[in-house]
Amino acid sequence: MAIRRIYETPDPMLRQTSRPVETFDVSLKTLVADMFETMYAAPGIGLAAVQVGEPIRLLVIDLQEPESEAKDAPIVRDPRVFINPEILTTSDNEIPYTEGCLSVPEQYAEVMRPDRIRAKWQDVDGTMHEEDIDGLLAVCLQHEMDHLNGVLFIDHLSRLRRDMVLKKLAKWRKENGLVAA
Ligand code: NI
Repeated sequence: MAIRRIYETPDPMLRQTSRPVETFDVSLKTLVADMFETMYAAPGIGLAAVQVGEPIRLLVIDLQEPESEAKDAPIVRDPRVFINPEILTTSDNEIPYTEGCLSVPEQYAEVMRPDRIRAKWQDVDGTMHEEDIDGLLAVCLQHEMDHLNGVLFIDHLSRLRRDMVLKKLAKWRKENGLVAA
């Protein structure tokens, strides 16, 4: 396994439309393992393959939620892989969630999305799955699926809010001696 470089905005890599996964082979499993390692190290709760420079329709999610509400409750790992995901239906009801993205580091903004979706996808072996999904997993899956179409969460903001986030990002990079990766 290896930690991969995460592409950051405004790299044109992130604006590509990812292509469907057709071959479920050992190299796909290696990429999935690398993506989990990269995501946990970042740390983050979701990562699309295009964010590590592989524009294919693959994303990984692990919400890493605590086992209970008790302070210092252990984090439960729940690694999930979504390949060629499709949203079949969405609820009319939308909820706000403060999103962040490893490709827009250290920046957060509220985005409205449907709170419940029905989705289908394939796993690493190519087996098809279909499920109703809600809560944070629904938010995260929609955010990661946007990446497969070259869309970032900041694209959901008004122009004014987006410019503010990008300005803050530039300031953060400058303060930390970083350049756009
Ligand atoms: Ni993201």
